[in-house]
Amino acid sequence: MTLDRPESQDIVIVGGTGDLARRKLLPALYNLFLAGLLPEACSIIGFARSKIDEDGFRALAREAVEAGSRRGLDAATWDEFAGCLSYLEASPGGYEELVKRCQQTNRIFYLATPPEAMPEVVHSLAKHGLDKGARVVVEKPFGTDLASARRLNQTLREVFDESQVFRIDHYLGKETVQDILVFRFANSVFEQVWNRTSIDHIQITVAESIGVESRGRFYEQVGALRDILQNHVLQMLALLTMEPPSSFAAEAIRDEKAKLLLAVKPVEPRQVVRGQYTAGVVEGDSVPGYRQEKSVAEDSTTETFAALRIEIENWRWAGVPIYVRTGKRLPFRATELEVAFKQAPIPYLATSDDAPLHPNHLTLRIQPEEKITFQFLAKVPGALLQAKPSEMSFAYDTEAFMVEPTEAYERLIHDVMKGDQTLFVREDAVDRAWAIVQPVIDAPPPVCFYAAGTWGPDEAKALVAPNQWHLR
Ligand code: BG6
Repeated sequence: MTLDRPESQDIVIVGGTGDLARRKLLPALYNLFLAGLLPEACSIIGFARSKIDEDGFRALAREAVEAGSRRGLDAATWDEFAGCLSYLEASPGGYEELVKRCQQTNRIFYLATPPEAMPEVVHSLAKHGLDKGARVVVEKPFGTDLASARRLNQTLREVFDESQVFRIDHYLGKETVQDILVFRFANSVFEQVWNRTSIDHIQITVAESIGVESRGRFYEQVGALRDILQNHVLQMLALLTMEPPSSFAAEAIRDEKAKLLLAVKPVEPRQVVRGQYTAGVVEGDSVPGYRQEKSVAEDSTTETFAALRIEIENWRWAGVPIYVRTGKRLPFRATELEVAFKQAPIPYLATSDDAPLHPNHLTLRIQPEEKITFQFLAKVPGALLQAKPSEMSFAYDTEAFMVEPTEAYERLIHDVMKGDQTLFVREDAVDRAWAIVQPVIDAPPPVCFYAAGTWGPDEAKALVAPNQWHLR
């Protein structure tokens, strides 16, 4: 099966000169072009407030591609790609011009703008009749809490039908995140034990070694809970714990995800640890504390780390604790889903290190290495009957596939062009994900400090006791 070239399209990037367009969207569109996956008639229109001309936009795009394209820039074909690019200033008369520019029947408006700009853009599109038959892509953060997310959804609903709305969570475009479904539902052996009878607990970690970089102003309003937990983590949790869908059609999968999120109990603030990094050493470099970062308040209480205990109140998962955490300036970058099985009922078997018997663990490593490992006990060779933890491991890049996974944004933009909503978040799921974290937003526990380069505040260890975090 190969991917098809989508039908002719106009792709309007609203906020086309901004950070997201430069870091992700333009390089992704360019890589789709290299792969022959842009439509034959494709017009990519940058639409933004910046006062630049077409050449300026092409130069900006070239710079963005040189810096961010996973396949570099091919000088021989650059002009062909650059020929698809044009620019329009989002001035008062900008939308009238946009109407003239949008010639194709299929059009996409990619809103690479801050959430507060969204209502005005959506209403301007409608006022100029540009909404008809269009697809609109909305970036995260999708609101800042339940009430604001509902207002955004209401604005979208006033103009668009849900089938036209593509809410992006770029984690859903990652190969290994999509593999969660294949792993669970295409292999009968795991699904048999995927429940409270066999599973002791689940952990999800999204660890970053970077700090807030130049995004201090943005991050001060957001924090780890809104930036990663409410969206990326809950989306991965839904895929890991949902019921089998009746088919792999978009709505069947989105129904199951929404049902799962409905079963997740809103988190109690006492089951939450919020942390903030102080100065420390990460991967050999001394780094400043969060409060010393640019555009961050000296007395900021924004969390750069959050750990929560989650409960799913349904037949499959009742009583199985789910621990999730995310943080910046942790020792290294790693996203992992860890399924810890119950211990075998044979405490009399000795282990080689005199530790208690290690229960089986299944680890889905999403990034940076993409692999799946299963930890089990094997007999240590020799006359003594001793067991030792051993591992079966599958890595994407070394064994069966030998291909570099596509970048998430490439996959997602291609899906928007094809009109496939499977990997996009539906209104009910986004609403529920906010409802799950809203009690913490309303009554945030005090922030605890951790030195950069450590695994977060000690309080996060107590949260999982008597278990331990798998990555530590
Ligand atoms: C974004 C967050 O959604 O995800 C960033 O806003 C974070 O703060 C990023 O760094 C992490 O994405 P990835 O793909 O590098 O794991």
